[in-house]
Amino acid sequence: MPHRKLPLLDATGFVILRDRQGPAIPPEEWQRLEYIDWKSGGDTNFAPLASALGEMECHGFWDHGKPDKDGVWTANREIAPSLCRYVEEIGARFGRVRVIELNPSDEAAALRQLHLDDNNRLNPDGEGWVVRAWLELDAPAGSTFILRERRDDPSTESRIPLHPGRQLVIDTERLWHVVHNPGPRPRHALITSFESGDALQAWMESQLPAEVAAG
Ligand SMILES: [Fe+2]
Repeated sequence: MPHRKLPLLDATGFVILRDRQGPAIPPEEWQRLEYIDWKSGGDTNFAPLASALGEMECHGFWDHGKPDKDGVWTANREIAPSLCRYVEEIGARFGRVRVIELNPSDEAAALRQLHLDDNNRLNPDGEGWVVRAWLELDAPAGSTFILRERRDDPSTESRIPLHPGRQLVIDTERLWHVVHNPGPRPRHALITSFESGDALQAWMESQLPAEVAAG
């Protein structure tokens, strides 16, 4: 039995949602986190908010015999309560939750980091396909998500300008992806693995931009 996937992601593999509403998240929540040197998609560090067993580590859940679901909050939860509440209020089953810190690079270096994620290892047949959600926290001007259906084919590319508060959902096991941060500061974003299902679909529908929801 195949994994359940959401129709909203069928056409392109990604959805740009409206910007997050509500009171601003205090920058201290990502500035004071404990980051781990972990390279993925460039010169990056990651602060785990939820990991496979609640430890301060970034290994794939498969190392602990789990699919990327049922993440356990780490000690970073104390430092970032609003970020954790944001994830919980979405209401969908989540796996790894992390804040990424991406240092600046030139665009050519970013493109060399195009990659696919491994989101569905050990995901039982018939359960929801795991996709990733982004909440941009402090993207420097000019930061851009680069997505490609085929890695070496720029004609399959989509570019999404990033700014604080931007919300995205991407099937990152389908789409090659990387963020280009031109600097001068690091970029921070919240990344969560979510199971495709009724809860994620309902949340995404509630977050569609007005013009899409009306059409
Ligand atoms: Fe990735």
